[in-house]
Amino acid sequence: MPRRRNGIHNGLVGARGLVGRDYLAHPRLRQEYETEIAPRTEVALSRILRKVPLLPPRRVMDLGAGTGAVGRVIHGLYPEVELVAVDRVAGPGILVADVLRCVRPAGVSGLFDLIVAANLLNELERHLDVPGRAALVAGWCRELLQSDGLCLLIEPALRETSRALLGVRDRLLSAGLKVLAPCLYQGLCPALQRDRDWCHDSAEILVSGRSRVDFSYLILTHALPHVEPTQYRVVSDPMKDKGRLRLFVCGPQGRHQIMRLDRDRTDANRAMDAARRGDILRLPETLVLTVNTRIGPQTVLKLEAVGSPRV
Ligand SMILES: C[S@@+](CC[C@H](N)C(=O)[O-])C[C@H]1O[C@@H](n2cnc3c(N)ncnc32)[C@H](O)[C@@H]1O
Repeated sequence: MPRRRNGIHNGLVGARGLVGRDYLAHPRLRQEYETEIAPRTEVALSRILRKVPLLPPRRVMDLGAGTGAVGRVIHGLYPEVELVAVDRVAGPGILVADVLRCVRPAGVSGLFDLIVAANLLNELERHLDVPGRAALVAGWCRELLQSDGLCLLIEPALRETSRALLGVRDRLLSAGLKVLAPCLYQGLCPALQRDRDWCHDSAEILVSGRSRVDFSYLILTHALPHVEPTQYRVVSDPMKDKGRLRLFVCGPQGRHQIMRLDRDRTDANRAMDAARRGDILRLPETLVLTVNTRIGPQTVLKLEAVGSPRV
């Protein structure tokens, strides 16, 4: 039976008429957000932190904290953490501030090991264009982040919001920041070359009757992460058709399609069968990547257990 969509779902995911409005000040919409949307943020953040294990942060800033989804995950993983949760709408545990008016909220001092802005940037689109949003994030990283800290941006996996995040990414890299994950490539994002492409991750976890949570994210650092030339991120779902298996992968040489004919399936390349969106696949250093690279019976592929390079 089709699910009945409530006001918050239509307002943020469907027609998106609520985006940028103070919907969390409305008790019914707040309740719907809490039950329908916030669990998806928790699933997305939990997945990111499983893939990219962090040193336990001491101080975390949650910008656009909403109903506290980020804080619940962070406190669950790091019970000792000091969390500063900021939102322009008041709520339990919230420091009320407008991120458009100040980089550092009044009364907050010092630097943070981790800044998280989950589903906030797209809420600012009526006030800030993509370069403006990039400048805002650059300000957070400059004024609030420890020199070895991380800034995590999560956005909905809609084509427009995801591409806007990639546009923010490219501008931040031009401004000197680096990306730790999901990108293993510090050049201009290849997904922006064609209008129809974007980049997102997925968590295969059941939330509110749906089987998968899609989201786009970016982890920024000041320092250049160490990436092996053989590390490639899987950036598509497996595409299985007509006796072959294809994947898009993105790594130190950009974004490429790899393809293996079913008859070429061997123990050496069987990691391709298990590879899922977001995983890191090791390709042989000698493999010449083209737009459609054939994985042969002798091509040795390996899946990495943890999905991130070292900081
Ligand atoms: C989609 S919700 C995300 C809430 C939470 N981070 C999550 O992912 O579940 C966006 C939040 O950003 C807040 N917000 C929007 N514009 C803001 C601004 N200019 N300053 C501070 N918070 C803002 C909204 O009030 C809302 O709580």
